[in-house]
Order: sequence, then C-alpha cells, then structure tokens
Amino acid sequence: MSFSILGTGKAVPEYVLTNDELSTMVETSDEWISTRTGIKRRHICKSETITELCIKASNEAMQNAGVSAKDLDLIICATLRGEYITPSQACVIQKELGATCPAFDINAACSGFIYALDVADGFFARGRVKKVLVIALDNLSNIVDWKDRNTCVLFGDGGGAAVLGEGDGLKYVEITAKGDTSVLQCPHGENTSPFYEHPSKPPYLYMNGPEVYKFAVVSMVRGIRNAIRKAGLTEEEIDWVIPHQANIRIIETAVSKLKIPSERFIRTISEYGNTSGGSCAIALADSVEKGLFKKGDNIVFCAFGAGLTTGSCVITWDKD
Ligand code: ACO
Repeated sequence: MSFSILGTGKAVPEYVLTNDELSTMVETSDEWISTRTGIKRRHICKSETITELCIKASNEAMQNAGVSAKDLDLIICATLRGEYITPSQACVIQKELGATCPAFDINAACSGFIYALDVADGFFARGRVKKVLVIALDNLSNIVDWKDRNTCVLFGDGGGAAVLGEGDGLKYVEITAKGDTSVLQCPHGENTSPFYEHPSKPPYLYMNGPEVYKFAVVSMVRGIRNAIRKAGLTEEEIDWVIPHQANIRIIETAVSKLKIPSERFIRTISEYGNTSGGSCAIALADSVEKGLFKKGDNIVFCAFGAGLTTGSCVITWDKD
C-alpha cells in the first residue's frame, strides 16, 4: 500500500518584491531578470516567520483533505533551514497544530518535497501510518547575500503542504544525490566554540549558476523520462508536469526535448521565483486551486538542487 494525495495547501509572504524594486538595490534590470530567468516578482518574509507560513499551508492542506491534527500519524518537513537548528521545524509545526505524532525534517534543498514523498512512501509500505502531513517550505531570503546580483534576484520565500492517505496514487518515486559542495552551498554562520581552529565562512548562499544550470537541464529531462518509464507509462500518457521552478529556460529546454505538450508544464516562476523545496509544493497547490487536475490524471514531478540532489515521481490524481 502506498499513498494518494488527499489535500494540498500553500503559503507565501504578503510582501511582493518586484524586479524593478530589486533594480534599486543591485545593478540589474527587469529586462535581464525576465529574459534570463522568467522571474517577474517574488514574495519575501517581512513580518511572517517560517513557522507561520508552515502552519498556514498545513491548515489549508488539512482542511482541503478533511483531516484534523489528531488524525496525523507523521509530520515530515522538507526545509533547509527551519526556525531553530533544534528542535526540527516539523516538531515546531506539530506543537502549533496540536498534533501528537512523530515529526522530523529532511534537508534535500530544492528536491525536498519529493524526498519527503519518498520517505512517506516507506512508512505507508510498512503499514506504520494512515495519514501523513508533508510540508516543503523555505525562507531563502534569510541566507541570500542581498548585495550579490548573481543570486539575490533568483529566490523567493514560501512553500506548500500535502496530506497523504493510504491509496495507490503514487506510481513511482526516485531520489538521487551526487555529493558536491563546490557549485551550490550555504555555510553555517558564526561558530561559537573558542576551541575550533577553522575560520567561519560567510553564511550566504553561493551558487555557480552556469554549472548548476547544466546539471539542472540534464537532471530534469533524465528524471522526467526515467520516472515515466518506471511508472509503466509513456510520455503521451502524461497529463501534467510539475517541474522545479528555478529558471524558465530550464523548463523550456525540457519542453523541447519531451513529447509532452508545452501547456501541460506548470509554470509559477514568474510570480514566486525559486522557492527551493517549496517550489513543487506551491505549484501543486496552485494547480489544485485552479481546478486543473481531474481524476485519473498522471502528474510527473521533477526537482534538482543543492547536494546535488534530484527527485522525480509520478502520481495519479485520484480526487474528484
Ligand atoms: N542582472 C544583470 N546582470 C547579471 C545578473 C543580474 N541579476 N546576474 C548575472 N549577471 C551578468 C553576469 O555578471 C554576466 O556578465 P558578464 O558576461 O559581463 O560576466 C552575465 O550576466 C551572464 O551571467 P551568467 O551567470 O552566465 O548568466 P546565465 O545566463 O547563466 O544565468 C542564472 C544565470 C540565471 C543563475 C542561470 O545560470 C541559472 O538559472 N542557473 C541555475 C540555477 C538553478 O537551477 N538553481 C537551482 C538550485 S537552487 C537551490 O537548490 C537552493
């Protein structure tokens, strides 16, 4: 027994940072950001905490699923930086929701949502759970260097949540990792130990854009093709693709290489930018809100990110 998605929700901060406003902060332009990335605006935390966003997305997903906190058997939060180093963000969410089940975090950067689905699948397979809450939400504005135009224009805050219940919706899921710290990393902040002999590194997100871009394009096309084949389907049988929203050019390259019509690829990047682990979860919740999916639709997810990690899966939508 695996799972089906029973409900989804999302949360993004209220404040919208446009490309024009960013152009007053670093040397960039709406024209450069739009044409090189497809991003027009992003939502950035001002008054909201990551916990408040997680709770909003979770409540929406639980309401959508008709499930309450006491029904949850497990909470998994995919985030690369929760409110505390410890306890986990999932435990903070558990407390705020009033749930009593086990809870833990996963850090797989932008692939976090799919990693969390794969882990949840294992709990369903072992018969340990009937209802699981998965949250994938990041707050990258906290770790971006706002003086570095190579990175600060790309990211936004927010994410989504999904309630999973026993079912046959998941057709295939695969995660990969290729240990690499050279092209994408964010060091910890100050070390508090007076004994430690290594200097602290600047606590900012560093990315070698062109190198990550190459990895992203190859991973996206390979991940989608592989997941479809392993699910026993063909590209013609795919109704929707939810790709990680890192750069519209990465998505358009995948469109050009796959036999899936362009309008079947969900694109949310212009509104939210790259929200890391939150990206696929936001795109899922947005699509559900718009009523795009019908029962029986086959949906492929594919993400890649720091690690370097990738995740891909095929889910058949089985809600009316
Ligand atoms: N505004 C204006 N000019 C800029 C900006 C900016 N914001 N940023 C870079 N430039 C300049 C560069 O300085 C360079 O100028 P030069 O030619 O004079 O040196 C020029 O634009 C081209 O720079 P490139 O880095 O080659 O631009 P590229 O077309 O590769 O686009 C980008 C950069 C958008 C970062 C792209 O490489 C990309 O999308 N990479 C993948 C990112 C990704 O997928 N991340 C996912 C993982 S994130 C995570 O896991 C947390």
